[in-house]
Amino acid sequence: MTRHFLTDLDLSPAEQAEVLDLAAAMKADRYGYRTYAASGHASKTVAVIFDKTSTRTRVSFAAGVADLGGNPLIINPGESQIGHKESVADTARVLERMVHTIVWRTYAQAGLEEMARFSSVPVINALSDDYHPCQLLADLLTVREHCGRTAGLTLAYLGDAANNMANSYLLAGVNAGMHVRVAGPEGYLPDEAIVAAARERAQATGGSVLVTTSAAEALDGADVLATDTWVSMGQEDEKADRAEVFRPYAIDEAALAAAAPGAIVLHCLPAYRGYEISAGVIDGPQSVVWDEAENRLHAQKAIMHWLMDASGLIDAPGSSS
Ligand code: CP
Ligand code: NVA
Repeated sequence: MTRHFLTDLDLSPAEQAEVLDLAAAMKADRYGYRTYAASGHASKTVAVIFDKTSTRTRVSFAAGVADLGGNPLIINPGESQIGHKESVADTARVLERMVHTIVWRTYAQAGLEEMARFSSVPVINALSDDYHPCQLLADLLTVREHCGRTAGLTLAYLGDAANNMANSYLLAGVNAGMHVRVAGPEGYLPDEAIVAAARERAQATGGSVLVTTSAAEALDGADVLATDTWVSMGQEDEKADRAEVFRPYAIDEAALAAAAPGAIVLHCLPAYRGYEISAGVIDGPQSVVWDEAENRLHAQKAIMHWLMDASGLIDAPGSSS
């Protein structure tokens, strides 16, 4: 059966841990895993399709596929027929005959689900309006590196608690056994269905979920602080209104002081200093955002390899070294 990675819950807690272990191993031996060029076969090709712009996702997938010995095929916004001239289903039917994995950054989660339904090769969500699961693998790898574990730690996410990052923190965080608190203003809180799914998964891992409009309640003693832009891609028209309503949820020096001593600070980037995060915090000693950005590379190599392997599409597993 083909495995896909469309939401954070597509991996069980044990599978998520396995992917993170592999990511750490791949980070320690960056050029040791040539599994896309295994057994002397021609290298595997990964289509990486963007309907929205990107720096980190684009570069980390391109470099990551190359590290694995494969061929990254980057399709930038507006460069393909997908969506406007051709259906997602027909695109999947064509791509699956040519490439070995499809990575797609798009708007509607339903599009990714349709792509996966018609694809016999793994489909990876490289950010949708609803989730950013690849980012969360990188974030969890970063937490492991700096805190030694994920289970039992408290992560507080402040800001737009209804966006893709908030949803993915809820799902991936509890999957990793974390206590996830999300805080945002009324009207910008996560969908009930996502909160319910996170609560259900938390029961299996010992994690927990808190959704609140109180930044102070979320921050109190937290081990990990996280935020994201207040204006996600596609919301540019709402910028002025959002800057006002989200201001009490900024991660600044006062917010950091309310967290646990030595708490680490995550931001998926791009960051807007003076809005969701102060310059002093993101450029300060508790910020781990550059490690987090680098970890996109290692985490995505791991999930690409893991999905191919779990789908029976890798010729020779493991390191060639
Ligand atoms: N964090 C992230 O996904 O960055 P890009 O939008 O630059 O890919
Ligand atoms: N919430 C942001 C994340 C960017 C990586 C967006 O969707 O634009």
